[in-house]
Amino acid sequence: MKLFIDTADITEIKEMAAAGVIDGVTTNPSLVAKEGRRLHDLIAEICAVVDGPVSAEVMALNTADMVTEARKLAEIYANVVIKIPMTMDGLRAVRILASEEIATNVTLIFSPNQALLAAKAGATFASLFVGRIDDCGGDGMDLVEQVMDIYDNYAFDTEVIVASVRHPLHVVQASLIGADIATVPFSILKKMPDHPLTDIGITRFLNDWEGGTRDG
Ligand code: E4P
Repeated sequence: MKLFIDTADITEIKEMAAAGVIDGVTTNPSLVAKEGRRLHDLIAEICAVVDGPVSAEVMALNTADMVTEARKLAEIYANVVIKIPMTMDGLRAVRILASEEIATNVTLIFSPNQALLAAKAGATFASLFVGRIDDCGGDGMDLVEQVMDIYDNYAFDTEVIVASVRHPLHVVQASLIGADIATVPFSILKKMPDHPLTDIGITRFLNDWEGGTRDG
C-alpha cells in the first residue's frame, strides 16, 4: 500500500521523505491556510521534495472556474494532482481534465455511489473520508470495502485513497482491505514505528551489553 502524508507543513514532509516512507502528499484548503503561504509557492516547494503525486485543491465551485484553476496548478510541476470536490460541477471538471491528461483526486467522498461516479468521470484518485464517517457514528472502513469491490468488479483504474485517518488502526484496516493508498497526518505517521516491546527490547540489549564481557 502506498502512504501519502496529509499535510501542507514542509518540515513534516521533509522529515517523512527523509525516512523514505511516503509516496505522495495530500493538502486541503484548511491545511494550506494554516501555513499562511501562497498555494502555488507552497505546492512548488513540496513538489521539489516529493516525486510522487501532490494534491492541491481548487477553491472554485463551478466547472469552468475549477478547470481554469486546475490548469494553472497543473503547470507548477508534473506531479501535481488536482483535488476536486465531489459535486456534479466537480465531475464535469474531472472529465475535462482527464481528457487533457491532468490527474485529479475527487475529494469529500462519503458514499459508494459518489465513488462510482468519480471513477466513471475519469478520476485518478478517489478520497474516502473514513474518520469523518466514524465521527458521525458510521463505519468508514465499510465504505472502503464497498468501493474496493465496486472498482474491482468493473476494473476501474481510479485508485482509492483512505483519507481523514484518525489513528494507526485506520492504516492497518486500510491495508488489510487492500486500499491503494492511505493519506496519513504527520502525528499518526510518527506513532506508527512505536511499540513498547521495541523500547523494552532495546533497553534490555543495552543493559546486557554493558553488563557483559566482550572484546573491543
Ligand atoms: C484528505 O485528502 C484530507 O486532506 C484529509 O484526510 C481530511 O482529514 P480530516 O477529516 O482529518 O480533516
